[in-house]
Amino acid sequence: MPHLKVKPFDTATIEEKVAHSTVMTSFATSMTSSDMVIGVEHKGEEFLLQLKPDEKAYLLKYDKVTRPLKVNILKEALGMVSEALNLEVLSSNIALSNTKAALSSEYFKKIEDFENIDYPKEKVSVEVGFGSGRHLLYQAEKNPDTLFIGLEIHTPSAQQVLKQIELQGIENIWVVNYDARLFLEMLPSNLCTQIFVHFPVPWDKKPQRRVISKSFLAESMRVLHKEGRLELRTDSDNYFWYSLETFFSVPKTEVEVRKNEALEVTSKYEARWLRQEKDIYDVYVKCTQDSEEKESRLDFNFNDVKYTKGIEERLPKKALVFDGYFVHFERIFKQVDGSLFIKCAFGSFDRPEHKYILLSHGGCRYFVSLPVRTMVNYEAHQKLAEQLMLTEG
Ligand SMILES: C[S@@+](CC[C@H](N)C(=O)[O-])C[C@H]1O[C@@H](n2cnc3c(N)ncnc32)[C@H](O)[C@@H]1O
Repeated sequence: MPHLKVKPFDTATIEEKVAHSTVMTSFATSMTSSDMVIGVEHKGEEFLLQLKPDEKAYLLKYDKVTRPLKVNILKEALGMVSEALNLEVLSSNIALSNTKAALSSEYFKKIEDFENIDYPKEKVSVEVGFGSGRHLLYQAEKNPDTLFIGLEIHTPSAQQVLKQIELQGIENIWVVNYDARLFLEMLPSNLCTQIFVHFPVPWDKKPQRRVISKSFLAESMRVLHKEGRLELRTDSDNYFWYSLETFFSVPKTEVEVRKNEALEVTSKYEARWLRQEKDIYDVYVKCTQDSEEKESRLDFNFNDVKYTKGIEERLPKKALVFDGYFVHFERIFKQVDGSLFIKCAFGSFDRPEHKYILLSHGGCRYFVSLPVRTMVNYEAHQKLAEQLMLTEG
């Protein structure tokens, strides 16, 4: 990732240079270490750069939480900041590159994109954990009238399938590199025809990490239209019985079970089990009714929150854990006018959000983008707001 090593310099001059800069917008220093952050605005993107002093060299680098997707924007900003601060560069890797960002295909969608997205096809199906993508690519080619949304947490698999999509000229797949358990919340009710969950990781020792759960089933039934199906395929006896139990624990379901049924396409993973003559189970859960539209107006504003004197000392130092989520104020950076950049982690334990909150005398906002609009993030957001409003005594 792009960075510059520069000769140690007097950081007391930064504040004044920020005031006259076209690229730098703010400057803040950590309350617990010698690290600093520089706010930047370049080509319509707002983000932070980190400055880490060391005896021999200072490191000016990207900030993981706020970094823009286009790496060239980051490189340009590093160069401009270094010039504006008159830094003596010792080493750098900010030469602009022509290579495409790993996930920059038009068929790659970020979870945030789903806050306001048009579905190009009337029919939509979802595949959870597509792995090598054999089934996903096959289905998409066979059903050109359907949009397939493929979900995969393993980034290299997502990248490989994106490559295949381009090579094969397929136009009806969207790849999302996100946890399926949270993603379904982003979809409107009654959208989908099928949700495929093929060979999910059984997680025998950590069942809380399984994709199939009561809440996943409930969300699946919401996003499936009437007569749509959730289709589980597994080689694990344990997972099969666990899923059946989960599916039957809701009051009204239509479940169909099959054993050792051959599908038209065999994934790499399945082929291995077939060679070993392992049993394979299919469990189909049919959605029997349409669902109500989802109330999606979760408000992530910090309406009445403002900086109050000494709040930086009152915020809890350790993570606060609640039922199914947590909030953690990880680091605080202070600007000369007293406003704070607060680095936080919050939300679900499996897929926490990482954000900065900018808290000033005028108000409070996420810097630079809002959290993903899931219920668990919303609950965490309310706790963050509660903590930021804590007054003395
Ligand atoms: C055992 S592999 C099966 C892959 C593929 N479905 C097949 O049949 O070959 C399970 C896949 O699910 C992905 N996965 C696990 N948990 C996930 C989650 N919560 N959301 C999305 N993908 C997940 C893993 O990264 C892995 O690629």
